[in-house]
Amino acid sequence: MSEGNQDSVDLSLLDGIMDGYDADRDNLISILWSTQNLYGYLPESALLRIARFTGFPPAAVMGVSSFYTQFRMTPVGKYLILLCKGTACHVSGVGAVEAALRAYLELPQDGTTEDGLFTLEGVACIGCCCLAPAMMINGKTYGHLTPGYAVGILRELRAKEEAK
Ligand code: FES
Repeated sequence: MSEGNQDSVDLSLLDGIMDGYDADRDNLISILWSTQNLYGYLPESALLRIARFTGFPPAAVMGVSSFYTQFRMTPVGKYLILLCKGTACHVSGVGAVEAALRAYLELPQDGTTEDGLFTLEGVACIGCCCLAPAMMINGKTYGHLTPGYAVGILRELRAKEEAK
């Protein structure tokens, strides 16, 4: 792993974040969170910069980043769809919703659409089981989904983007 501009992110923004922390190993998780909030994921070049700043070996920073499932190692789309696969949503028919979303997005598995607009991720319970089946898009919850309703939400978002 060598520091370079392999992921084309602006590391000066990260320097601005790290200015708010002491160069201390205890701050690693907080810095990783702030970095993910900045870029939407943890770019490799940013992890190398963080390793130098905190004094952790790069392999250790990579290890911590990949250990926690909340950290993303690849870029996400403008709209991050967290589709709940928890028990309540499962028994309420999220499978059909998932199939419809995958067909609309042309994503055979979790990932990001070619245009970079949508990322679809299956997740465990998102804490609103009474709304099952449910999904979250950029932090907003949508419940009582049907295949048509769920795809309609994405169509609206795409139309909004195309109208810009
Ligand atoms: S199981 Fe889906 S919100 Fe709880």
